[in-house]
Amino acid sequence: MNDTRTHWDAVYSGRAVTEVSWFEAKADASMALIGDAGLSLDDPVIDVGAGASVLVDQLLRAGYRDVTALDVAADALTASRSRLGPDARRVDWIVADLLSWRPARRYRLWHDRAVFHFLTDPADRDRYRQVLRQALAPGGYAVVGTFAADGPTQCSGLSTARYGAEDLAGEFPGYTVVRTARAEHHTPAGGVQPFTWVLLADRG
Ligand SMILES: C[S@@+](CC[C@H](N)C(=O)[O-])C[C@H]1O[C@@H](n2cnc3c(N)ncnc32)[C@H](O)[C@@H]1O
Repeated sequence: MNDTRTHWDAVYSGRAVTEVSWFEAKADASMALIGDAGLSLDDPVIDVGAGASVLVDQLLRAGYRDVTALDVAADALTASRSRLGPDARRVDWIVADLLSWRPARRYRLWHDRAVFHFLTDPADRDRYRQVLRQALAPGGYAVVGTFAADGPTQCSGLSTARYGAEDLAGEFPGYTVVRTARAEHHTPAGGVQPFTWVLLADRG
């Protein structure tokens, strides 16, 4: 079994998804940046490393009709499916390691909260960019949120890279920066984690 899968399966095993440090009751920073992309409600949107995030719920409530959630940890997606009940049928669920995933279609918007910052090996970041390039429709958008330059150096027992807005945008040559943002995430245990967000547009 793949090391990434083993690690994240163990992280989610036997814990409530509302107790993990990245849990947020509302994915408001994500929704604001997605809103700025000005999509139509039929445009395909994918949340990579979605975990059990409520972003899918909020996207469905906002009227998006083509929503996909991908994660290497099946249990995390199962938690979201159970939470959504019958609405889970309105989401495409993909259990896969992003770095070896071959997208079968293209998306107008790619969303990643707290996945890219785990890629401390440059070869993994190259692979991420290749998959993003394959998955994104020409002229599409990417919303990427990572720990900020003054954010944590570790999460879930893994080292994390930290980015200011300029550094993060610099990881994605070939994309235009539409907007950057800084947001504080309040963890369930009462900690504060600053995040850097970028909304990027593919130059087509
Ligand atoms: C810190 S959590 C963030 C989850 C979610 N984006 C959120 O904001 O609640 C990171 C997530 O990325 C997933 N993940 C990590 N590496 C991955 C990979 N290579 N492929 C797919 N998912 C991955 C983990 O299973 C985990 O659910």
